[in-house]
Amino acid sequence: MLFLCLLQVIKSLMIYENDHDPKKKILIIGSGGREHALAWRLRKEGAEIFVTPGNAGLFEDGFKDANIDSEIFDLVVSFTKSKKIDLVIIGPEKPLVLGLGNRLRKEGILVIGPNKDAAQLEASKSFAKKIMHQAGIPSAPFRAFSDYNDARVYLDELYRNTDEDSPVVIKADGLAGGKGVVLPSNLDEAQTFLRQFMQEGLFGESSKRIVIEERLEGNELSFICLCSSEHFISLPTSRDYKRLKNGDLGPNTGGMGARVPSPDEKEETRTWIEETVLRPLFRELKKEGITYTGFLYVGLMLTQSGMKVLEFNVRLGDPETQALMVGIEEKLLPYLFLCAKGQIKKDVQLTTKETACLVLTSQYYGEGEVRKGDVIVGLENVDSKMFFAGVKKEKGLFYTEGGRVLSICSTGEGCMDRCLEEAKKISWKGMHYRTDL
Ligand code: AMP
Ligand code: GLY
Repeated sequence: MLFLCLLQVIKSLMIYENDHDPKKKILIIGSGGREHALAWRLRKEGAEIFVTPGNAGLFEDGFKDANIDSEIFDLVVSFTKSKKIDLVIIGPEKPLVLGLGNRLRKEGILVIGPNKDAAQLEASKSFAKKIMHQAGIPSAPFRAFSDYNDARVYLDELYRNTDEDSPVVIKADGLAGGKGVVLPSNLDEAQTFLRQFMQEGLFGESSKRIVIEERLEGNELSFICLCSSEHFISLPTSRDYKRLKNGDLGPNTGGMGARVPSPDEKEETRTWIEETVLRPLFRELKKEGITYTGFLYVGLMLTQSGMKVLEFNVRLGDPETQALMVGIEEKLLPYLFLCAKGQIKKDVQLTTKETACLVLTSQYYGEGEVRKGDVIVGLENVDSKMFFAGVKKEKGLFYTEGGRVLSICSTGEGCMDRCLEEAKKISWKGMHYRTDL
């Protein structure tokens, strides 16, 4: 008996040691600050990192360019096999929704990122709401519509029966690059959004179907976990600052900065999420014949009547990941391998140092067509860790190439103030960042 126990301990240590092998090769799919941060973190833990499509800043940091189109699955498979990649991490939602996870698993390749059916949690708001409703997960009441006239009449009735100016949120059902959720301030605006979404096809097929849900009020909290089947590794919570402008004004963006842990995290927060959201969710998914392997992001709002789920994403958040990769104290690499192999056997809560991330954006980000092609100066003066996103490099100079250009991270007391000090050392025409985080 003692011998068998010892054998078990040695075997589990072997898995652990194996997964610590500094020669582990990892392919990361994606091009944002999130992927840069993940690559940086896993290289620090000893892995060799390939990225595609990546970005100029990330490659400047020494990561290898896999240089393959990740939407051509055959190319990803042949690259992974020829380079003997040990693990593929799929960063953004689109390849997951297209089924890259399914294809890689079929080829026997270890992968972080759910299959196509599970990715519906992000790709269809009405699917996510249906699952939440069936599982009894606290969330805003909603109605889903495919018929424009039905939705229009419903909105009219709703506004007629309330004293509030803005009782609803309108959401495109499908993926809309983070722009498919609108918070109208009156009925006229709500009806205009509805027309743009459903009749004018603002987001193509993605907005032909919509969800109208009750508007909630409160601070938001992001929670991310790494899950395989029924167990999960809970990352520390984060606060994502979504509004474009100081004072939480202006339109919603993908995120202008983040803090970990969330200033709102209490001792019981993660356990509450595990018990009230994750376990019921996985039970419900199982009934639908869906298993989930990879990162799961739960966006929550802390309302006066308790925490409510706003959304699920089937990936890591951006910019939450940048702060998490700098702050998390435990090694991540062994957990990634356990997850991909479906061997997470117990729930774990990871810990973090207090960390902040500040996002620097191009002019008009969040408002319209972003300004591009401006030279970025002062990067060499920054002492804190920077993660790049929308940048290109020409003749030795960096230029802006997208909305979110780069993010700056710092840890410990006063970390956000340090990020702000560092941001002052950088400039480009039209550069924007929040100064009140
Ligand atoms: P979602 O993609 O569903 O999370 O929506 C994006 C953002 O819209 C959220 O992070 C919130 O800031 C906001 N939002 C979504 N649903 C609601 C809601 N029911 N009430 C208030 N704000 C919401
Ligand atoms: N920061 C929110 C997201 O990644 O969706």
